[in-house]
Amino acid sequence: MRTVTFLRSIVLVVFLMECVAQVKSDTVNHTKGYCVWYDQCTSGNKALNCLYNGPAKNLTDSKGVKLLDDLCPELRGQHTCCSTKQLMALSKNLQTMSQLTTRCPACWNNMRRLYCQLTCSQDQSLFLDPKDIAPLGDGRFMIIDIDYYVSPQFKQGLFDSCKDVSFPGNNEKVLNLLCGTTAEKCTPQKLLTYMGSTQNGFAPFNIFYPDKLIENLSWMNKTIFKCNQPFTDPQTNKTAKTCSCQDCATSCPVLPPPVPQPTPRKIMGLDVLTFSLLVTYIILLLIFFPISIICTMKKNNKRYALVPDNSQANLKYSGGSYPSVSSNLPELVDSPPGLCERWGSKLESVLRHWFTKWGVWCSYHPYYVMGACFLVIAIMACGLFRFTVTTDPVDLWSSPDSIARKQKEIYDSKFSPFYRTEQLIIRSTHPTPGGFKPLNKKWVPFGSIFHKDLLIQALELQNHITNMKVPFGDSNITLEDICFQPLAPQTKKCAIQSIFQYFQNSNATLNKCLTMMGHDCNKPHKADFNAYDYHTHLLFCASSPTSVRDVNFKEPCLGEFWRSSQPKHCTRWLHRHCV
Ligand SMILES: *[C@@H]1O[C@H](CO)[C@@H](O)[C@H](O)[C@H]1NC(C)=O
Ligand SMILES: *[C@@H]1O[C@H](CO)[C@@H](O)[C@H](O)[C@H]1NC(C)=O
Ligand SMILES: *[C@@H]1O[C@H](CO)[C@@H](O)[C@H](O)[C@H]1NC(C)=O
Ligand SMILES: *[C@@H]1O[C@H](CO)[C@@H](O)[C@H](O)[C@H]1NC(C)=O
Ligand SMILES: *[C@@H]1O[C@H](CO)[C@@H](O)[C@H](O)[C@H]1NC(C)=O
Ligand SMILES: *[C@@H]1O[C@H](CO)[C@@H](O)[C@H](O)[C@H]1NC(C)=O
Ligand SMILES: *[C@@H]1O[C@H](CO)[C@@H](O)[C@H](O)[C@H]1NC(C)=O
Repeated sequence: MRTVTFLRSIVLVVFLMECVAQVKSDTVNHTKGYCVWYDQCTSGNKALNCLYNGPAKNLTDSKGVKLLDDLCPELRGQHTCCSTKQLMALSKNLQTMSQLTTRCPACWNNMRRLYCQLTCSQDQSLFLDPKDIAPLGDGRFMIIDIDYYVSPQFKQGLFDSCKDVSFPGNNEKVLNLLCGTTAEKCTPQKLLTYMGSTQNGFAPFNIFYPDKLIENLSWMNKTIFKCNQPFTDPQTNKTAKTCSCQDCATSCPVLPPPVPQPTPRKIMGLDVLTFSLLVTYIILLLIFFPISIICTMKKNNKRYALVPDNSQANLKYSGGSYPSVSSNLPELVDSPPGLCERWGSKLESVLRHWFTKWGVWCSYHPYYVMGACFLVIAIMACGLFRFTVTTDPVDLWSSPDSIARKQKEIYDSKFSPFYRTEQLIIRSTHPTPGGFKPLNKKWVPFGSIFHKDLLIQALELQNHITNMKVPFGDSNITLEDICFQPLAPQTKKCAIQSIFQYFQNSNATLNKCLTMMGHDCNKPHKADFNAYDYHTHLLFCASSPTSVRDVNFKEPCLGEFWRSSQPKHCTRWLHRHCV
């Protein structure tokens, strides 16, 4: 019953939304110098812009002018279609983008341009077409969806400049974060579509990027910065460096073409080695085969004496009479024993004689023998004095003269030392496994470590370690002074890999619980029920760890160590230095 009511209300809401959004804007004047929007009509994190189809306005507010000059220097001194409020929202949204693309100035500048032109260009109406608008009630309209006509060349150029940029926080391509799919499957269109979709959790409204022009509109076709060519960075007026090979495949040094291998010589379709081996084999065969046949035939004509090895032992005493000697006599031989046989028997008797003497001597002098043995063993074991147990994993795993080890030592001596992972393993003694039951679905089992009280304790421990202060000299040292900070110097958050990063290490987020309709579980509404809590968030994040937003739980999965605001005057940074 509850479900039915709930579904009905969803249908109703969707239906209402459709009605509102169907006010289509056929009447927009697409003229140079004209806007499609100005200022924001709603407030909050994801404010919508107001429809305004008039001439661009002079931005006079000093805060707005400063933001415009910093963010969109190419629009400096022009009339704009954006108010100070919009510029503040733009600046906030671009902050994340700049953190992601900071390693490659060309990519960052292209992204920046895309959004500057969208938000502020005075000729906005030439390439923007409001798709869906909704009345606000006071005569104004807000824009819900918009078509942004970006030329195919710009789309491709933007994609090309960003496609190889890696994100230092997790050594992935940033496209994994920006494209909604993996970097390999990303295309220019997919990239823009995902970045402009409200599904990504950031975009306040949907921005569509059509690939065909319609009447009265033209492409936004600004020049694109290439990641393998230096250019003058509009934000700093300085020459921006080309992106490193790691972040831009086209700027990698071109390898010399491989020297063509000489084609191997062939004899009768076989290479030289095989052929010569074959010939040798055949020759040897031809020599030895007849010889061995001749030998066998000769042998069959001769007769040798067959003397059993231990003929003496076979002479057993059997009930009073010795076996007749004559039957044990060796057969008659045609030839005397050969040289080898005579030498062999001589050697055998010498050895027997010598070892017998040795054995007898030893058994008469046991103390000398044992003493001598101890002495020899003691001398051999002298090395034990220098015995040490290797416990350093580096020494265990790599030989001191391996190339990798030597190179790492040079690296350590020239740059800051490498970081090493420290682990804390927490085991649950809780007797029962955890789990939860989503609505109308089967029970989802979780391990016994996932009981909330345990998680809260573990989080407290982690936060305690992070906040620990250790007196050192006349100051205190914290974890931040020694930990690995992937995004230093903009954010000093340590890279801690734990599931609490999915909750940004916040107790409040871990305890969060939302109902089906997105309300707090503690203040339920009528016909509503608990639906999303840390279980669902964990399941979501485990399948897309870099997601910037779990749509149901309304929290990101990305860890704390990359989400932080960028210092005001640091517009970009290369290799950890602020420029
Ligand atoms: C668009 O605005 C310009 C400038 O005000 C005006 O000359 C033109 O007639 C308008 N076009 C339409 C279709 O309203
Ligand atoms: C905008 O206004 C300022 C002063 O309010 C004025 O100095 C400036 O010339 C104006 N800009 C344009 C392009 O009209
Ligand atoms: C294009 O502009 C002309 C006048 O500038 C106008 O009459 C026409 O309706 C516009 N076409 C569309 C599809 O908006
Ligand atoms: C966009 O600009 C580039 C050069 O800047 C030019 O080659 C291309 O033809 C332009 N595209 C369109 C659709 O105007
Ligand atoms: C860049 O140069 C322009 C004029 O060439 C100047 O107006 C602007 O202030 C400069 N910007 C910076 C950040 O130096
Ligand atoms: C170090 O930390 C202790 C306790 O947290 C505090 O009392 C002390 O003032 C700190 N010392 C310095 C130099 O900050
Ligand atoms: C974390 O949340 C739990 C449950 O709301 C609460 O009992 C606990 O005191 C909180 N811990 C901290 C450190 O705030």
